[in-house]
Amino acid sequence: MTFPPVAHQIDASHHTALKDSSSEHRNSVKDVIEEITSDLLAEKKSISSKFFYDSVGSKLFDQICNLPEYYPYRTEMGMLPSIAKDLSELITQPIELIEFGAGSLTKIRILLQSVKMIRSVVPIDIAQAHLQSAANLLATEYPDIDVTPIFADFTQPISLDNAKDVPKLGFFPGSTIGNFNREFALQFLQRLRRSLGDSGMLLIGVDTKKSPQQLHQAYNDSAGVTAQFNRNILSHVNHITGSDFNPDAFDHYALYNPHLGRIEMHLVSQCEQVLRIHDKQISFHQGETIHTENSYKYRPDEFIHLARMAGWQFEKQWLAKDDMFSVFLLHADT
Ligand SMILES: C[S@@+](CC[C@H](N)C(=O)[O-])C[C@H]1O[C@@H](n2cnc3c(N)ncnc32)[C@H](O)[C@@H]1O
Repeated sequence: MTFPPVAHQIDASHHTALKDSSSEHRNSVKDVIEEITSDLLAEKKSISSKFFYDSVGSKLFDQICNLPEYYPYRTEMGMLPSIAKDLSELITQPIELIEFGAGSLTKIRILLQSVKMIRSVVPIDIAQAHLQSAANLLATEYPDIDVTPIFADFTQPISLDNAKDVPKLGFFPGSTIGNFNREFALQFLQRLRRSLGDSGMLLIGVDTKKSPQQLHQAYNDSAGVTAQFNRNILSHVNHITGSDFNPDAFDHYALYNPHLGRIEMHLVSQCEQVLRIHDKQISFHQGETIHTENSYKYRPDEFIHLARMAGWQFEKQWLAKDDMFSVFLLHADT
């Protein structure tokens, strides 16, 4: 289960102590079951996209990244070597790098190869087992870097260790900010501004608005991996709550909503069905959907405006060919 009531785990073999986020902020299993149940009982049914990421979901996400249609990963990866080179010139004193939603830590490696002033790395993720093994591997490959993974839900406040007197560089790639609606994106950026401190910086990858056809293909790949990823959320929910969803009784549906500037992902019930979750029953009509993800897209000027409202100053931006993807370096507005 993704939310065990443990406080700390130590993996002595690679010295990557897996920290749990402070327990007063962390959701208990009971809270998580209540959150899922109430979202499924609402008039418009939904499941938060954070529940995509059990071990199976994290591996499926890595497969999505290798799909020809999924341009965001490939494009950002292609931009990172030159971004890392620019950063190596800009950052002249030791820093700590904190990645929010760290996944397999692939992008951090590109930064580590060039930015020699990164002395410690704090990967934060909700997928505990995947995080632990990715952090162990990183610590083995980079024995001189201090790797301290934190198992936490980044939609909740996270207390960072301020004992080390080095500036913090937040890293939020993959356009994961797009999973939040505008209001929460602003709140999240404000929270990062507070937790990264007055000497904090933020390197953030943001997907851009583009043709609905290109967006549609990226979330409807021909191999059906995104569909598998979407349906896997139901298996994860079954595991957490003991519910009895049959993932095969739902169709993957993803569309670009140009009015709201977002991709929406849904699971569409193939038939009338009644499911049990905890002590509640949830009925579905044929064609009724569970909304599983939003992925908001931003024009660069829209994102810079949002970042400024959240207390960040714009330092630099990198735009991919044809404006396919954007990466921003921000520093704290003091
Ligand atoms: C789109 S993937 C990006 C992975 C990696 N940063 C990259 O850019 O390739 C999102 C990552 O964020 C993690 N994640 C999603 N929701 C989260 C949450 N609420 N708290 C912490 N991690 C979360 C997932 O487990 C996953 O590893």
